[in-house]
Amino acid sequence: MKTKFCLPIAFALALAAPVAKGEQAVYTPTAEILKAREDFRDKGFGIFIHWGIYSMLGSGEWVLNDPDIYHNEYKDLARGLYPSQFDADSWVKAIKDSGAKYICITTRHHDGFSMFDSKHTDYDIVDATPFKRDIIKEIADACGRHGIALHFYYSQLDWGRSDYNPIGRTGHEPGRDTSGDWNEYTAFMRDQLTELLTNYGPVGAIWYDGMWDRDELPGGMSPELWDLDRQYALIHSLQPACLVGSNHHTTPFQGEDIQIFERDKPGENEAGLSGQEISKLPLETCQTMNTSWGYRIRDNKYASVNELIQYLVGTAGRDANLLLNIGPRPDGTLPPQALERLAGIGEWMKEYAPTVQGVRGGPVGPHDWGVTTKKGNKMYLHVLDGKDAAIFVPFAGARLKKAVDYKTRKPVRFHLTSEGAVVTLPADRDKGAPDYVVELEYDKTI
Ligand code: GLC
Repeated sequence: MKTKFCLPIAFALALAAPVAKGEQAVYTPTAEILKAREDFRDKGFGIFIHWGIYSMLGSGEWVLNDPDIYHNEYKDLARGLYPSQFDADSWVKAIKDSGAKYICITTRHHDGFSMFDSKHTDYDIVDATPFKRDIIKEIADACGRHGIALHFYYSQLDWGRSDYNPIGRTGHEPGRDTSGDWNEYTAFMRDQLTELLTNYGPVGAIWYDGMWDRDELPGGMSPELWDLDRQYALIHSLQPACLVGSNHHTTPFQGEDIQIFERDKPGENEAGLSGQEISKLPLETCQTMNTSWGYRIRDNKYASVNELIQYLVGTAGRDANLLLNIGPRPDGTLPPQALERLAGIGEWMKEYAPTVQGVRGGPVGPHDWGVTTKKGNKMYLHVLDGKDAAIFVPFAGARLKKAVDYKTRKPVRFHLTSEGAVVTLPADRDKGAPDYVVELEYDKTI
């Protein structure tokens, strides 16, 4: 085991400042954080990467939770991890060309394996594999070179450590040692977060996941049990512009800067994880291109490029970012199906990015025909199905002056009513296109 990493004393004392039991410190976001939140909303679209030793088994990132898989054997898989084709630049370039503005990568998933060089465990990419390259460092450097922001997924749930004790709903491997002390586990998380926020340049966000694992035990998802006040303060103090988000499937806790929805757009709950109220924080929906997060060899159920574009437009219209997932293969390559989709989305974004990035959800909520986004005195009507001949835009907050086809800049007919406007969609528009965009120009900011 390596030696422990120490926080500077003054800082450790500041963190130890008393927060009475059961009471949450009131979080007042700094001007820097408020700005970072708006920048995050402007980015609109990011790519999620789930990659770890689980990728070698081609059965998704939960494979260790399968009763047939033994933890000790699984751990030893690390000795065979050698992603010989891994090239951070080619990943980042393909992602950037899709129009995405940030990458969120798994630094440590529920299996407990760290994809970065950590001094606080030997179960990491540099110490436990023959590859010996710090993947997170290479990605961080490539992101820096290509000007794309980097976010870190960090699992609070751990299926192997003895100090993740008591264990929760998952990770019941036979013979698992659970003799450790929970306080050591939370200290370990702080140590690793310190490394992640010290050694890899600017980090746009820490994306937590896994608290739900203990929701049926005493303490459940309480911020106290999970050490949230200390960890969130630590994050903000090491990198004052780093946002905090957590995929706990409830409304955000104190200290969080973004609200995450898993597999659903805000306001929808088809997957069953997104019934929580929508907060005023910046929103992000994570969704995957096929049906898995980590690489699954049999999962070829990829959404088409057009479906993914419509998903992106649908999230933008609900004022949320889309974090779209790819599960890289064990050899270090992104699946060709994913590359194709990145390229297809990128083609569309070359033209339409300004209607889904740097915008906010429009004043007209989602309808069967599609959604709206807005910026300044412009509203973008995103018509996602080819059925309607005209659309009523029930917005009378400003006077509509002009309507054009966003792509061709040709005028689009409309007439005003007391409640808004009726926009006539050109009959000869391409009804097979994923999104027909009409730009509406108003006489003032909307
Ligand atoms: C869930 C899963 C996890 C995945 C995450 C992505 O919380 O446990 O495997 O990383 O969702 O949103």
